Amino acid sequence: MESKTVDIKAGGGYTVHIGSGILDACGEAVASVIKPCRAAVVTDSNVEGLYLERTMESLRGAGFDPISFVFPAGEGSKNMRVLSEILESFADNELTRSDVAIALGGGVTGDITGFAAGVYMRGIKYVQIPTTLLAAVDSSVGGKTAVDLAAGKNLAGVFLQPSAVICDTGTLSTLAPEVFADGAAESIKYGVLTDEDIFKIFECGDVRSSITDVIYRCVTIKGRLVEEDEHDNGARRLLNLGHTIGHAIENLSEYTFPHGHAVAVGMVMIARAGELMGITEAGTSERLARVLSKNGLPTSTGYSAEELYTAALSDKKRSGDSITLVMPEKIGSCRLMTVSLPEFSDIVELAVNG
Ligand code: GLY
Repeated sequence: MESKTVDIKAGGGYTVHIGSGILDACGEAVASVIKPCRAAVVTDSNVEGLYLERTMESLRGAGFDPISFVFPAGEGSKNMRVLSEILESFADNELTRSDVAIALGGGVTGDITGFAAGVYMRGIKYVQIPTTLLAAVDSSVGGKTAVDLAAGKNLAGVFLQPSAVICDTGTLSTLAPEVFADGAAESIKYGVLTDEDIFKIFECGDVRSSITDVIYRCVTIKGRLVEEDEHDNGARRLLNLGHTIGHAIENLSEYTFPHGHAVAVGMVMIARAGELMGITEAGTSERLARVLSKNGLPTSTGYSAEELYTAALSDKKRSGDSITLVMPEKIGSCRLMTVSLPEFSDIVELAVNG
């Protein structure tokens, strides 16, 4: 079992392990940073049948005493009610402050388990075992945890860095194509941000056979941004490329439009506006649209500029009368740009109607 590792110097410092088949050694990886204790594995009803028993077995083999909590799969479970059920299950199983929570699954599982770990007994350790590409390249690293409120997505949560991240690339083989595509959008985003080589893998390479390298590169970029700006007030905001318009699309579709798909459209639109404003190299939006289509992602929606502008204003990244956008300069380079709301309205107009 060969694996690559990325060390992240945030929180107490932790290692991201990436490799095929490493789920069967997850117990050893956890034991290298947390001494054997009770381990509460939280997963969803899709992942339960696929990977829960392997995880429990490996944890037992390394001396842990694992228990599990399974919730219904889907974004609809990322709420205060399921959070409360997880916390009650931790208490019923007599987890103490020296025990550990383990998130086994995609973004919803990682976000809600991390939040539960952050508030149970005022904070216990947790480990991320991502099983989707989106969780592997983005949400399992960086310590953002959350649940959704009636008023919007991710409105309640804490920053809590995990103690380890164990990404078995073998688990990606069971993903539905549209779920893999969601993670492809976030991976392509890293290519647009700083690493044209990642972009080229999705443009003309063999993505599946390069997946360990793709995740390694994405996590390395994210790790550096998180180290520089753990609490998301500065450089980390570059990770929001495509997200301002993307979140507006998700919101308008009442969250039926998957996150990565919405980010894909958001990236193309902001690149198009950037080209018309003379900031983005000519041809970038077309190149981006081609690579996204090739990877099963949409590049446009039917929403009007006015609908998108109004929905984008509810974004939590807005601050008072201005909004900070991530503007591509070319593939491999982006910059943060703070604009007034009237300027933002003009940019959305350019993005939609050219
Ligand atoms: N998903 C963006 C971030 O972690 O900052």
